[in-house]
Amino acid sequence: MKLLKANNYHEMSKKAAEVILNQLKEKPNSVLGLATGGTVLGTYECLVEDYKKNHTSYQHVQTFNLDEYTGMSRTDSHSYHYYMNENFFKHIDIPTDHIHIPNGLGKDLIGECQNYEDKITEYGGIDLQLLGIGQNGHIGFNEPGTSFDIKTHVVTLTESTRKANARYFESISSVPTQAITMGIGTIRKSKHILLLASGKEKALILQQLFNDVIDEIVPASVLKMHSNVTIIADEEALSLLDDEKVKVLLT
Ligand code: PGA
Repeated sequence: MKLLKANNYHEMSKKAAEVILNQLKEKPNSVLGLATGGTVLGTYECLVEDYKKNHTSYQHVQTFNLDEYTGMSRTDSHSYHYYMNENFFKHIDIPTDHIHIPNGLGKDLIGECQNYEDKITEYGGIDLQLLGIGQNGHIGFNEPGTSFDIKTHVVTLTESTRKANARYFESISSVPTQAITMGIGTIRKSKHILLLASGKEKALILQQLFNDVIDEIVPASVLKMHSNVTIIADEEALSLLDDEKVKVLLT
């Protein structure tokens, strides 16, 4: 895993946007795996800024989002469809039929998971997958204990994830109990993975990630088995790692 250190959230976001823009320069028809949440918001802001300034085109890009709540309309302001549209897609020139987000509304959710997986394969797999990390080490909505091989699936959210996401809802009881998520087996097939972490809340899980063994109890630890992972973390997120360890990781 390659580590890039950022001074703060803004610098982390700028560096992440640079990685994505370099990917698009190298391959204008890239397949991007995208994430939602607070950590990646600044990255989308930087990409939108770049689009306004440099007109980087997304005409030939395909995007696949990690996850979506079940039973929620895509126009609901809590849905990830809404988040992606408001924070990124409506500001750039991506054709709407190039945007792929799991449909958590259908009757056949298992079929939807299989279709989603097939579609990713059909487009040649994900070139660059953007990821945040949960305080419990989850990636996408793959909670601790999830098999490293699982593909896109329906998941029951843990109490800790619902609690963490309650800040976006009126109360924890309004947070959905289920979601569709790309599986760890889906994520780890991506050619390059870019994981971002910012703030003190992520310090403990980053310490665990860098120090502990590979174990399904820490879903993100699967990334240690991948040959092309970039982690961009800010000082606060790295604050529980000793300086020597960070130095080694940065080399
Ligand atoms: P956050 O979520 O960016 O809002 O902290 C990350 C995650 O849960 O994957």
